[in-house]
Amino acid sequence: MLGSFSYKNATKLYFGEDSLKYLNDELPKYGKNVVLIYGGGSIKKNGIYDSVIEILKANGKNVFEDAGVMPNPTADKLREGVNIAKKANADLLLAVGGGSCCDYAKAVSVSVHCDDDPWDKYYKRFEEPDCDIVPVGCILTMAGTGSEMNGGAVITNHDTKEKIGHVFGEEVMPKFSILNPRFTMSLPKRQMVAGIYDIFNHICEQYFSGEDDNVSDDLAEALMKSVIRNSLVAVENPEDYEARSNIMWAATWALNTLISRGKSTDWMVHMLGQAAGGYTDATHGMTLSAVSLPYYRYIMPYGLNKFKRFAVEVWGVNSEGKTDTQIANEGLCAMEDWMKKIGVAMNLSELGATEDMIEGIADATIILDGGYKTLNRQEVVNILKESL
Ligand code: NZQ
Ligand code: ZN
Repeated sequence: MLGSFSYKNATKLYFGEDSLKYLNDELPKYGKNVVLIYGGGSIKKNGIYDSVIEILKANGKNVFEDAGVMPNPTADKLREGVNIAKKANADLLLAVGGGSCCDYAKAVSVSVHCDDDPWDKYYKRFEEPDCDIVPVGCILTMAGTGSEMNGGAVITNHDTKEKIGHVFGEEVMPKFSILNPRFTMSLPKRQMVAGIYDIFNHICEQYFSGEDDNVSDDLAEALMKSVIRNSLVAVENPEDYEARSNIMWAATWALNTLISRGKSTDWMVHMLGQAAGGYTDATHGMTLSAVSLPYYRYIMPYGLNKFKRFAVEVWGVNSEGKTDTQIANEGLCAMEDWMKKIGVAMNLSELGATEDMIEGIADATIILDGGYKTLNRQEVVNILKESL
C-alpha cells in the first residue's frame, strides 16, 4: 500500500541541445546582481563559461564570480561563498557545473542572510532556513546527483572529516535548471561513469525498501533498465547523444523526489559512501560503488523478495528451477558484472582508504532505519572491512 504523501517539484527545467537560450527567459525575473558559481575551470576549457557570460551581459547583469568550487565542496569554501554573495548583494546565484556547484549554491543561498555559521546551523544542528533565501539557478554540466531538481546540498568538513547532506525543502530547490546533454560530453570517462553509478544507486536506495506493490518501484525499474542500457552505449561511445541525453534525464528523475513517494527508502549505501568520502575525499559515485556489493549481499536475506524481483525485472535473471536466494544472488552477480564493465571502483582501497580508517569511518556513518535491516555498529564495521 502506498503511504500518504504530498508532491510538488518547484524547479522549472529546460532540456536539450538549445536549452541554454532559455537563460534569456529566466534572467529578467531576477535583480541585477548575479553571482556566477563554478568549479575548477572545466567550463572555461569547453566554452560554456563564455556562452553564459555573453547571455548575462546581454541581459545587463552585474556579474560577480565565485570560482573554485571543488568536488565535495567544503565548509570553508561555503563560508567564503557566503561572503562573496553578501558583498555582491546577490539577487541570483547561478551555478554552472556538476552536483558540487549546484549543492554549494543551495548551501550559500540559505546562509547569505543568516548570521549563524552555516556548517553548525545546517549540518550539525540540521535547522531549517529562517532567513531570506537567495534564488538559485543551475546550468548542469555533469549528470549524476539530481541536484538540479532537488533540495539536497552535501558539504564536507575536512577539519572533522565529516561529509553531511542536508535535504532542504522546495523553497531551496533551484528555481530553474538548464540541461544540455552536449555540455556533459567533455567529462572525463571516470567522472561520467561515477555519475552513472550515482544515478543507479539513487534508484536502488529508494527501491530497496518496503514489500508492497508500489508504482514508485515500477518507475524505478524502468529507470534502472534505461540507465544500464544507455550506460553501456555511452561507455563504448561517449559522444552518443541519445545515450548521454537519456542518462541525463534519468539522473534527474532518479532523485527529484518522485520515486520515493509512498516509500520509507534506505540510503545506507550513501551513508557508508559519504562517511568514506569524509576520510578519502574520493569521487562521490565511486565511494558508493565501492561499498554497494558488500552492503547489498549482507542485507539481501532481509529483503529477499525485493532482491528476487530486482534480479528478474531489472537483470532478466531466469528464475526457473531456482530458489529465491539463488535468483537474488544471480541478480547481484549481474549487477557486479555491469559495474565492472562500465569501470567503477570496486573497493575502498582503490580510493585510498586503509584498515586504520575503518573505525573512524564507522563512527562517521549515520545509521538509518528505512531499509530492510537497521545495521548496528559492528555490522557497519564488517561491511566496511568487506569493502576494503
Ligand atoms: O570543477 P570542474 O572544473 O567543473 O570539474 C568537475 C569536477 O572535477 C568535473 N566536471 C563537471 N562537468 C564537467 C567536468 N569536467 C569536464 N567537463 C564537464 N562538462 O567533474 C568533476 C566532478 O564534478 P562534481 O560536481 O563534483 O560531480 P557530481 O555531479 O558527482 O557532484 C558531486 C557532489 O554532489 C553531492 C556529492 O556528495 C558531491 O559532494 N551529491 C548531491 C546530491 C543531491 N544534491 O541530492 C545527492 C548525491 O547523492 C550526492 O551526495
Ligand atoms: Zn549520490
